[in-house]
Amino acid sequence: MHKEKSIKVDAAPRSTKNAEVVRRVFVKSYGCQMNVYDSQRIADLAGREGYEETCNVENADLVVLNTCHIRERASEKIFSELGKISQRKNARARAGRETTIVVAGCVAQAEGAEIIRRQPAVDVVVGPQNYHRLPQLLAERRRSRAAAVDTDFPVEDKFAHLPASAPEAIRARGPAAFVAAQEGCDKFCSFCVVPYTRGGETSRPVAKVLAEIESLARAGVVEITLIGQNVNAYHGAKPNGGEASLAELIAAAAEIPGVRRLRYATSHPNDMNDELIDAHRDVEALAPYLHLPIQSGSDRVLAAMRRRHDARRYLDLVRRARRARPDIALSSDFIVGFPGESEADFEATLAVAREVGFASFYAFKYSPRPGTPAAEMAGQVGEATKAERLARLQALLEAQRFAFNRRQVGRRFDVLFDKPGRRAGQILGRSPYMQSVFAEGGPELIGAMATVEIVAAGPISLTGRLVAPASRETSLIGRFGGRSPI
Ligand code: 5AD
Ligand code: SF4
Repeated sequence: MHKEKSIKVDAAPRSTKNAEVVRRVFVKSYGCQMNVYDSQRIADLAGREGYEETCNVENADLVVLNTCHIRERASEKIFSELGKISQRKNARARAGRETTIVVAGCVAQAEGAEIIRRQPAVDVVVGPQNYHRLPQLLAERRRSRAAAVDTDFPVEDKFAHLPASAPEAIRARGPAAFVAAQEGCDKFCSFCVVPYTRGGETSRPVAKVLAEIESLARAGVVEITLIGQNVNAYHGAKPNGGEASLAELIAAAAEIPGVRRLRYATSHPNDMNDELIDAHRDVEALAPYLHLPIQSGSDRVLAAMRRRHDARRYLDLVRRARRARPDIALSSDFIVGFPGESEADFEATLAVAREVGFASFYAFKYSPRPGTPAAEMAGQVGEATKAERLARLQALLEAQRFAFNRRQVGRRFDVLFDKPGRRAGQILGRSPYMQSVFAEGGPELIGAMATVEIVAAGPISLTGRLVAPASRETSLIGRFGGRSPI
């Protein structure tokens, strides 16, 4: 109660002939790149319903939290955020303004109506496969006065029901965009909720993916990341029959005028094939960056995780990727403290990391997820051990990342600038290897690709000097005689 009083809300605007009431939507995305993509589609849908997008939750008539269930902390954050939003809803109601709260994404899928029980201010709960039905669910909510919950796995294709992004919305989101190529996962790693929340693996047809890329490129997007929970398992229908692999999709996307750089994420080691590895050698626009989660370096733990590959296979893929593209930056996901992980198992993870030499990483403490097999396994590892192992792994990977960054000093490559820097006169972009690059430059360069010489390296970013305006990204392979320059 006390807190509610401190929230100030403007009174409802009077709807007169001259002042049309503007309804605003605020969408907050948690978790993975797929959620970022879905959040943009949700904003597009709300746009079609007459909502203007706002980045200020205070002004929003429709608040959408697009949630992540992957680790416990991610889920718990949602309920604390909902607490704050429900207070704001009450305060706005007192000022005569209505607020509709939607919980979308993987927490919505996993918890369903339980969310309404925990937070009755929520109006709609909608899973990742159903958000195309948001307009109907909002209408249902208005009609029935009861919350609407939709977590079925529908037979219809949600993508067929989503509006294309308006060119202004595309431009407002910047020069790099995600495009969903594939969704869901059939792997059922024993720690992971994704197969339960996102459902089985499906690939979008080639023509649909390419049409989406074309419309983004026409609006000025120059970098496309093809995304999917298991994007390298892509097998989308070709227009004339048969199925295309991710490598074929990448080759076709690279031909689209305006597409300067392509990326893909996330990949499973077992779905890496020669064709995709060769694309890193043959497709000029494909960035020299590979995010390939290993999770653990211990074969015993990998088996318990049901990853269906061992450390040797992973190391072999790394060798092949480096042979195809010597300067490739490798990145990975790691989980420490999986049930039964011994000190020796953990050291095997450190050993694999030492052998690979990663350019970037995501490392997590194992988080038991209800309904997954690993949550029931014996040998759950204590919090202190998890924290200690995470710190040791992070220290190693941070040192590798810094070393990778230092090896870029003196090199030249194209950077896609997409944001202002930390201070006036500075701009921020991404290297082909995914590092943040700061450079002196005016705001007119935001949205442009420019050649930069790297003059300094920090632990998590580079500093560059602009040497030329945008040039076609050049392959480094020939210049370094097939040996890694880094
Ligand atoms: N606990 C900790 N990390 C997890 N991940 C997935 N499930 C869990 C879990 N239960 C991590 C994996 C995966 C990344 C997206 O999140 O490393 O690759
Ligand atoms: Fe989860 Fe494993 Fe599927 Fe990745 S491959 S989404 S970790 S089940």
